[in-house]
Amino acid sequence: MQATRLAAKRSTAPRAHAPLTEACDAPASARNPKLDRFAWWQSGIVYQIYPRSFKDSNGDGIGDLDGICQRLDYLVSLGVDAIWVSPMYPSPMADFGYDVSDYTDIDARFGDLAAFDRLLAAAHRRGLRVILDFVPNHTSDQHPWFLESRSSRDNPKRDWYVWRDPAAKGAVPNNWISEFGGSAWEYDDTTGQYYYHAFLKQQPDLNWRNPDVRTAMLGVMRFWLDRGVDGFRVDAIHHLIEDEELRDNPPNPDWRPGQSPARSQTRIYNLDREEVHHSIAAMRAVADSYPGQRVLIGEASLPIKQLMAYYGSDVPGFHLPFNFHLIKTPWDPDAIARLIEEYESHLSPEHWPNWVLGNHDRSRVASRVGAKQARVAAMLLLTLRGTPTIYQGEEIGMADVPIPADRVQDPWERNVPGLGLGRDPERTPMQWDASVNAGFTDGVPWLPFAADHRRENVETQAADPRSIHTLYRELIALRRRELALSVGAHVSVGTVGPVLTYRRYHPDRWITVALNFSEQAQEIALRPTEARRILLSTHLDRASESLSGTLRLRANEGVAMSSDP
Ligand code: NOJ
Ligand code: CA
Repeated sequence: MQATRLAAKRSTAPRAHAPLTEACDAPASARNPKLDRFAWWQSGIVYQIYPRSFKDSNGDGIGDLDGICQRLDYLVSLGVDAIWVSPMYPSPMADFGYDVSDYTDIDARFGDLAAFDRLLAAAHRRGLRVILDFVPNHTSDQHPWFLESRSSRDNPKRDWYVWRDPAAKGAVPNNWISEFGGSAWEYDDTTGQYYYHAFLKQQPDLNWRNPDVRTAMLGVMRFWLDRGVDGFRVDAIHHLIEDEELRDNPPNPDWRPGQSPARSQTRIYNLDREEVHHSIAAMRAVADSYPGQRVLIGEASLPIKQLMAYYGSDVPGFHLPFNFHLIKTPWDPDAIARLIEEYESHLSPEHWPNWVLGNHDRSRVASRVGAKQARVAAMLLLTLRGTPTIYQGEEIGMADVPIPADRVQDPWERNVPGLGLGRDPERTPMQWDASVNAGFTDGVPWLPFAADHRRENVETQAADPRSIHTLYRELIALRRRELALSVGAHVSVGTVGPVLTYRRYHPDRWITVALNFSEQAQEIALRPTEARRILLSTHLDRASESLSGTLRLRANEGVAMSSDP
């Protein structure tokens, strides 16, 4: 489907809440023609679906593609533009789908290719884009490529992975540590060599220096682009290529016991290598060879300066290298102001920014900053310049769920227990309604629900005009209505005590945002010409209030204000 045709169906008008319908064919509405010079992924909002935990359609306790299909109308009513679906390919699930054993099929737990095609068509009919997770760094150890590669030293696929002889006395080839703890090398008896795995030993790293690997993986992208997907979120991209000489990493002087073991080293030799950018450029060339603005989003958790290289230099790289810095930065107005300033100052005019509050790998924002500030965080995410990504459940304020020891699923927690590295708490199933299994499943959910799921769920919150869900819907509608927010300039950022302020501009309109990070009421002075009327308060009770130079903010309140009376 052509992007322009899809784009023409989107609306900037706020939409009424749709019931949680089971049907997969609903009409979509039109996009503001003033956005025509922007790509959909610039003006739009991305919503991350972790398919295991979104909606189960067949009672096995695991979410699936038909389940996503049943909730597309919900996503349209929420107002997002695209879904990014975490991996749903065949997998032994050692890392819950990030260990792929077949890149061009669907795991039976999630459905099949026919279910995928139905989902894609149903999403497109509604004007929703579909972004898949592309996992190029590693396969599953059960992938036929790896089974061949490990079978003998002279197998034609031997060089598709990173194999090395043992060091003296059979030791590992070097000191590299896996992201999930322990050596990043696994000895293989059959051929007497070690293979490299940046993550689990069940996730051997592909050797991207081998041209056949490159060709095969670019072919995987084409398989899904031919089917009509709108782009990829590219997993663990900074891990793609390692030092050819396999030099030892030096120790990281800033590491403290209790932190992730992999971070005890300054990973100059197995992370963020210069050569990775050639591979990214090749991926981008594939995406660009298709009509319709296919997007590439890179996953690399790196300092801002290093992240900029992932936009590409002489040749383009990612459209959006994920910016995770709101997750890492202390929830403090001065720190956030510095972050926004630093990020904005590093971006070139051709680089489009993006912001993320959470994902399936990190403690949920409501747990990091608390329920009251989660509303302020929502306003921040949805009023900053740059494409926002919402992680499923953020829009109902879901918090991390404590997981009893006997229900732990995540291999990271199992490998390195007790350090709080496990990711199950942020992966618990979506809470749809007040029924016994939260409307997620008719069976036994693969992870438990939050204790408050009968109160905090989509259905209950949608009926509450002051809920965080209503706030998300209002914020998204405001962002869609206001060009200053969706595509306007970022003008300045600063703090007044605990209040973070910034301004957004688009010809004919200034929007000023003021966010109170504190538990106390605050009063600040604003330029009367720039802040004359409140558009939205995080408390959802001040729309259209007129201002004349002074703004009073209640505890934990954020407001967006317009320059028009
Ligand atoms: C990043 C993914 O988000 C995470 O869930 C996964 O474990 C690693 N990459 C390895 O694929
Ligand atoms: Ca299921």
